[in-house]
Amino acid sequence: MKNTIWTGLGLGLSLWVIVGCKPVRPTHDFLADNIRFAANQYKAQMEELEKSDKICIPRTVKPDGNMQYASIGWDWTAGFYPGSLWYLYNLTEEEYWKSLAEKYTEALEKMQYNTSHHDVGFIIGCSYMNGIRMGGEEKYKPVVVQAAKSLSTRFRPVAGVIQSWNTQKGWQSERGWKCPVIIDNMMNLELLFEATRLSGDSTFYNIAVSHADKTLKNHFRKDGSSYHVVDYDPETGEVRSRSTAQGYADESAWARGQAWVIYGYTMCYRFTKNPAYLQQARHIADFFFGLPNLPEDLVPYWDMKAPGIPDIPRDASAAAIMASALYELRTYVSAEDGNRYQSIADKIVDSLNRHYQAEPGTTYGFLLLHSTGHHPGGDEIDVPINYADYYYLEALARKEALKQ
Ligand code: GLY
Repeated sequence: MKNTIWTGLGLGLSLWVIVGCKPVRPTHDFLADNIRFAANQYKAQMEELEKSDKICIPRTVKPDGNMQYASIGWDWTAGFYPGSLWYLYNLTEEEYWKSLAEKYTEALEKMQYNTSHHDVGFIIGCSYMNGIRMGGEEKYKPVVVQAAKSLSTRFRPVAGVIQSWNTQKGWQSERGWKCPVIIDNMMNLELLFEATRLSGDSTFYNIAVSHADKTLKNHFRKDGSSYHVVDYDPETGEVRSRSTAQGYADESAWARGQAWVIYGYTMCYRFTKNPAYLQQARHIADFFFGLPNLPEDLVPYWDMKAPGIPDIPRDASAAAIMASALYELRTYVSAEDGNRYQSIADKIVDSLNRHYQAEPGTTYGFLLLHSTGHHPGGDEIDVPINYADYYYLEALARKEALKQ
């Protein structure tokens, strides 16, 4: 138990060096220009938001050109906006961003009790957990621990996994699943690892490790690529099916799903030092960046096995997630391999900067264009979206921290 806490603590601290417990100071024009651009966009956006007496969290731009806000009650993307505000505080050191980050974080307070899906990890992690890391907000610790308790209610002990979605209602009820686990769920494990570090309760750590191990066993193909959905029988633990919900086909390579793996297993390695996790992160990174049809700018198509390439939408969000993950991954491998991962991440960030940024003063203040949310559902195709901005800012912060 004690070892578990200390392992989490030590590794947690090493991340803080990467993502920046201390504010990151711009030291070169590329970063300074990007920070200035981001701060200007978000300031303009914020001035509009603050005209309302309600809290509105930008999510994307709708096909009719209006802003789509995230529902504060349940939306998996609700934490990314406060998370971006924390990164802006981290990157600029301006108190202006801190007070707004607090305000938009605390608007999500009720979400710590949400047990209706697995996304409480994304929501509370990006908002409250970043508030602790970047804002020094001690008072947020109980919220992170409560959110981990909520997430833990979805742990199915026989199968050894956290159930991602409920299956009684909505479109998920039409798929015949019993205990669907989507690869995105790897991202929610960070909340559990942090909650053990903050509370000393190893239950959360053990659930995270169980989920990561089962996913390692059941979610991957020989080439390292990932299925989107694995359905388990919660009574026997057997795998019932492997399929997709947001990808082109069950056997395809949905780009953001592959990004969640690189990020998720690198993060799991940070907390556990289990070499199998590092190996999986590397395996899928090597698979993905070895794909012959990957565009030269390294911003992937929304699904790398969808028909119609090269005339299909890209997913800038997947690229931003991968860049951020690769900056961390580079710190756990040899200098030679690390340089390779870092040059991929640098190339992605450079591409996003040159060709995917919104024109200053446009697009409601979003930073990146050309993300794809849910192509099979016909939703959020080739749009700006709040999680692309969040991981882009995180990638910038990590890139700068590595230089330092
Ligand atoms: N479900 C999270 C995603 O769309 O990646």
